[in-house]
Amino acid sequence: MDTFLESGRFPVEVVNLASSKEKGPGRPPHWEMVFWWTRKPLASARAVILASLLPRDFDVERFTRVVYPSYQGSGRFSKTPHFLNPNVKLLGREYLEKLARTRLLDPFAGFGSIPLEGVRLGVGEVVATELLPTAVVFLRAVLEYPKWAVEKKVEKQLISDVEKWGKWVLEQLGKDPDIREL
Ligand SMILES: C[S@@+](CC[C@H](N)C(=O)[O-])C[C@H]1O[C@@H](n2cnc3c(N)ncnc32)[C@H](O)[C@@H]1O
Repeated sequence: MDTFLESGRFPVEVVNLASSKEKGPGRPPHWEMVFWWTRKPLASARAVILASLLPRDFDVERFTRVVYPSYQGSGRFSKTPHFLNPNVKLLGREYLEKLARTRLLDPFAGFGSIPLEGVRLGVGEVVATELLPTAVVFLRAVLEYPKWAVEKKVEKQLISDVEKWGKWVLEQLGKDPDIREL
């Protein structure tokens, strides 16, 4: 394979910066649903997936504008990078079609940084597998339910249900002296 990821021009410093921003305040909201030890930044998942599909000579500046629309240069971002979807339109038709033809498998998907960013990039087929039941439920919550709710036009109901039952779970936990601190 002769890809942009392997070219030596992959902008590691910007990807590191974007990833560290994501780990600070303003983390992805769905991360707050469950504590997890090894969450991988969406910013790096996004950059690596796309860079592995682009050719070696792809323009670095264009790549950066696609993966981080909020990047302003000199290490500054106007918004935490993960809040904006990648600006895939800047890739042009040839690469958009390539993304749509691509199949992505994460066989150890954990909490889903790689499949989520695959979906956001417009990868044609994204498959996530995971052994732990907790993580599987979470993967479904991130990758399937929102899409399902939009298709069924019940997204507002889904949001209010998540708020209602999330609050209820927190209240119940608060009553239990053994697990309250969690
Ligand atoms: C390092 S984490 C995944 C990180 C994830 N790919 C990411 O980018 O955030 C590895 C995951 O593999 C899962 N796992 C371990 N053995 C597995 C197996 N045999 N089949 C499926 N998942 C497995 C673990 O439960 C864990 O969630």
